[in-house]
Amino acid sequence: MPTIDTRLSRCRFIDLPKIPDVRGNLTFIEGGVHVPFDIKRAYYLYDVPGGSERGGHAHKNLHQFIVAMAGSFDVVLDDGDRQRRFHLNRSYYGLYVCPMMWRFIDNFSSSAVCMVLASEKYDEADYIRDYDTFVQVAREKK
Ligand code: TYD
Repeated sequence: MPTIDTRLSRCRFIDLPKIPDVRGNLTFIEGGVHVPFDIKRAYYLYDVPGGSERGGHAHKNLHQFIVAMAGSFDVVLDDGDRQRRFHLNRSYYGLYVCPMMWRFIDNFSSSAVCMVLASEKYDEADYIRDYDTFVQVAREKK
């Protein structure tokens, strides 16, 4: 059966290279090689209190790659029609998030660190922070 190409189906786990070593493993990420965009920015969430939820917005043009550098959490992606929950708990894989996906992050374990690699510098104008507006724009862009 052919897979239907939806925005949600473009978002996927990507395994990263892992150099195993008895002294400790090493993983690396190169923009355009291991993630499908050039990396212009990295940021991370840490010291997240139990029960917190982050995100709750979409980006018009930003590509992102999310890695659990420590601990674990869930990323819920929503393309305006369908939702999927992704669990991240290792630093040798991450979740690619294409533009125009509503997302929130919850279920943080204690000491979790959520690193996000992004295709652009921070730009508040790229955010859609209202869910109904997001659904309307997502349907127009289909
Ligand atoms: P936001 O993206 O809303 O957080 P999250 O989606 O992780 O819950 O950003 C929270 C605040 O941090 C907001 O005031 C914007 C600011 N911020 C920056 O200044 N630079 C950045 O690169 C990011 C991601 C956020």
